[in-house]
Amino acid sequence: MSQTRLLALVGSLRAGSFNRQLAEAAAQTAPEGVEVDIFAGLADIPFYNEDIDVPGSVPATATALREAVAAADGLLFFVPEYNGTIPAALKNAIDWASRPYGQGSIKDRPAAVVSASISANAAKWSHGDTVKALGVAGAAVVESAHLHFGTINQRFAEAHPREDAEALTQLAAAVRELVESAKARVTA
Ligand SMILES: Cc1cc2nc3c(=O)[nH]c(=O)nc-3n(C[C@H](O)[C@H](O)[C@H](O)COP(=O)(O)O)c2cc1C
Repeated sequence: MSQTRLLALVGSLRAGSFNRQLAEAAAQTAPEGVEVDIFAGLADIPFYNEDIDVPGSVPATATALREAVAAADGLLFFVPEYNGTIPAALKNAIDWASRPYGQGSIKDRPAAVVSASISANAAKWSHGDTVKALGVAGAAVVESAHLHFGTINQRFAEAHPREDAEALTQLAAAVRELVESAKARVTA
């Protein structure tokens, strides 16, 4: 594998999202030979509906997601917590990438979850639910790359995560673990 491509999917759609900032910081830590792209367009994907998931009717935005997932060697999810679970936009993306059943682009793809919320719990319920959904969808969950960030509204209020040395170290380690899993998958 010459270039390793990771795709970051951010569960928050708001412009000032701390989860997005963490994804940006993770991208910055990518070593030479590794590229981290943040998927743009999650907000434009219609809710999953089997009636439109048929040839000729799949929305272009959903196809773009499926293709981006298929082109990635690994997936890095950045999830806040909404009412104790996964934000709908992110769950919707997992649903689209999981189909056709057994052949979705997410199948067997190494995937890890970074959760971040304003609570000291660090979105642990959302993290757990994302891991569960990814597992059911057929992704290869990489536990060693998981991270949790709590009280993000305080921690990153004044400074972007890219200026937080500890966060950068953790994100770099997560990227490294995911890349190793992706490489192992290719050589297996
Ligand atoms: C609808 C909604 C529900 C939320 N529910 C929770 C929750 O259950 N647990 C939690 O820790 N934070 C919750 N929050 C607060 C989020 O942690 C906070 O908005 C966080 O900054 C979102 O991440 P972002 O900065 O990437 O947008 C909720 C926020 C919204 C908008």
